[in-house]
Amino acid sequence: MPRLFTAIEVPKEVGMMLSMLRGGIHGARWISPENYHLTLRFIGDIDERTANEAAGMFDFVERPAFTITLTGLDHFGGKKPRAIFASVQPSPALIELQAEHERMMQRIGLPVEGRRFTPHITLARLRDASVIEVADYLASRGGFRPISFPVSRFVLYSSRASQGGGPYIVEADYPLRGRAGLEPRYANAI
Ligand code: 2AM
Repeated sequence: MPRLFTAIEVPKEVGMMLSMLRGGIHGARWISPENYHLTLRFIGDIDERTANEAAGMFDFVERPAFTITLTGLDHFGGKKPRAIFASVQPSPALIELQAEHERMMQRIGLPVEGRRFTPHITLARLRDASVIEVADYLASRGGFRPISFPVSRFVLYSSRASQGGGPYIVEADYPLRGRAGLEPRYANAI
């Protein structure tokens, strides 16, 4: 069974900049830049027929291209940190695109995603990392300057069934209409 999710890809140049933030936390598994992505809708392990239905459904998305802005670094897990991520500005275009994916997946019978959408790009997964070390890491990167890039498509990714993790394979790509109104803005961003 394929494990699927929809996502926005991270341009190579942005990936390179984010990859410079790697290192400095014991036991962290830093994601390879080619695997960075912004998950829109995690679909999970589904059968082939439902996978085809999902893939066909996304063809009906009719939305304009937009701009993504990364605003800073943060962590998930509170006092038991489990991931470091770059936070993404929850712009209306992004929220609406994600909400449409959610509606579409419910329409083909998948269970509701109970978790609130917190747009992010995971940079590292943590195990047994100390809160202090994570706080120090985030403080030392406090000078993060926003990075913006245009988004002209989203993709349906697969990862190894039941296991997750990269490498991710683009199973299908879906263009957004037109061009984002902004050129990439990230020269010397970090
Ligand atoms: P993460 O980056 O926050 O870990 C592919 O596995 C993507 O789907 C990852 O980006 C991951 O988000 C997300 N993901 C993995 N397992 C998930 C789950 N059970 N529910 C929701 N999202 C999940």
